[in-house]
Amino acid sequence: MISTGPRMSKRLSFYGLVGLASLCIFFLAFNQRYSSYLEHRLQPVISAYFRGSIENVTLTEIQEVVDQQRKAIEREMEDYKYPNGRYGVNVSKLEDLVLEKGGRPMRSVILTSWRSGSTFFGDVINAHPANFYHYEPLLDFGIVQIRGPPLADEALRNLEALLKCDFSNLGRFSNRYLDYGKTHPWVFNHNTHLWKQCQIHKKICWDPRFVSKFCKLFPFQSMKVVRLRLRAAEKLLEQEDLGIRLVLLIRDPRGILQSRKHREWCPTKPDCSDPALVCADMVSDFSAAVRLIKKYPRTFRVIRYEDLSVDPYRHVRELYNFYGLDFHVNVKKFLDTHTKNDVGGVSSTFRNSKVAPFHWRTDLDFEEVDEIQRVCAAAMRLWGYVMASNSSHQKDFDPLTDYQLQL
Ligand SMILES: *[C@@H]1O[C@H](CO)[C@@H](O)[C@H](O)[C@H]1NC(C)=O
Ligand SMILES: *[C@@H]1O[C@H](CO)[C@@H](O)[C@H](O)[C@H]1NC(C)=O
Ligand SMILES: *[C@@H]1O[C@H](CO)[C@@H](O)[C@H](O)[C@H]1NC(C)=O
Repeated sequence: MISTGPRMSKRLSFYGLVGLASLCIFFLAFNQRYSSYLEHRLQPVISAYFRGSIENVTLTEIQEVVDQQRKAIEREMEDYKYPNGRYGVNVSKLEDLVLEKGGRPMRSVILTSWRSGSTFFGDVINAHPANFYHYEPLLDFGIVQIRGPPLADEALRNLEALLKCDFSNLGRFSNRYLDYGKTHPWVFNHNTHLWKQCQIHKKICWDPRFVSKFCKLFPFQSMKVVRLRLRAAEKLLEQEDLGIRLVLLIRDPRGILQSRKHREWCPTKPDCSDPALVCADMVSDFSAAVRLIKKYPRTFRVIRYEDLSVDPYRHVRELYNFYGLDFHVNVKKFLDTHTKNDVGGVSSTFRNSKVAPFHWRTDLDFEEVDEIQRVCAAAMRLWGYVMASNSSHQKDFDPLTDYQLQL
């Protein structure tokens, strides 16, 4: 008994080896004969399996990030002062504003054009807690102004889809916006909460399934649009179920054109650099604004960048009332750090909002100003901007008067 053990196991391993060898020979023969069969039948099954498990990892990651953000928003909104009927807004709890819970978010759209102060204004809105910031969603249309069909129809379809957090169905250019974002990160990097997750979860950042789910968590949705003129944007106000608050942001054409001179993407594009086109758009925006302020007094507003900058606290407070939003301590903090002269000293990266709109007075020479004023007289009169008479006047006059939309 003592000696049979090892002998037995030796014999067993011998037969085992023989068995293994024959299996290998068989397998080699089989493999040679059926390798093409294997390749065509088995490989797709195997790779589908791997694709499937990668897909599962992705879906799990999406779900985890979404769950985590949902909790963060609930924490952030714990002590939030809901309108509760104030400002005509009947919202008393978070679910009322959250798309994934069947609520309707507070949607704000800033309509303007390039270099008109919308970065500052957009950031003022984005300083509010739990905001999802759709930053220039028509970026992929290029440097153009969209004034009417057919481009306007497509643009509006995209904007509506985004406001409903539907990133998978961006019209005929399905996914073009997200694909564009992969190589142009500024599509997302102004969107504070999304960008934070994108830096940790690079794989899912441009996945429409992720962005749509993520977006639907946010009670506040803001958007800035610099390529669509007001006449065409009226369609957004018409749709009461969207509940959009629209603000047209206007700036002195001399300030606009001075600021655009310093952007290399602008000078070759007439919609951006030709004063006559810029000011024709301002005239058309004015007549649309006169009509819309009567038709949508509660959901449409106009503000000039210069007024906002000179007296930011008053105007931002008014705008927050208009939105039906709490003038949150974060917003006040943002204004404290971005609009005061003495913050940060010389090396400060915080722009002083009070002087930014008026740089053109020293940066442009009078010939340039005169050239703009010649084609912009009508737009400037309508929007309350005073002509400069000569170069010394240009440097110390007050370029602002009032404008009257009720005319
Ligand atoms: C992926 O997940 C689904 C459902 O959880 C499961 O049925 C499937 O087997 C998974 N696939 C892979 C390849 O892991
Ligand atoms: C506000 O909502 C509540 C509950 O949904 C409803 O009972 C009430 O009538 C609403 N008030 C207004 C002014 O719409
Ligand atoms: C410049 O314009 C102002 C205001 O119109 C005028 O008072 C002033 O005399 C002008 N100066 C020159 C040098 O023409």
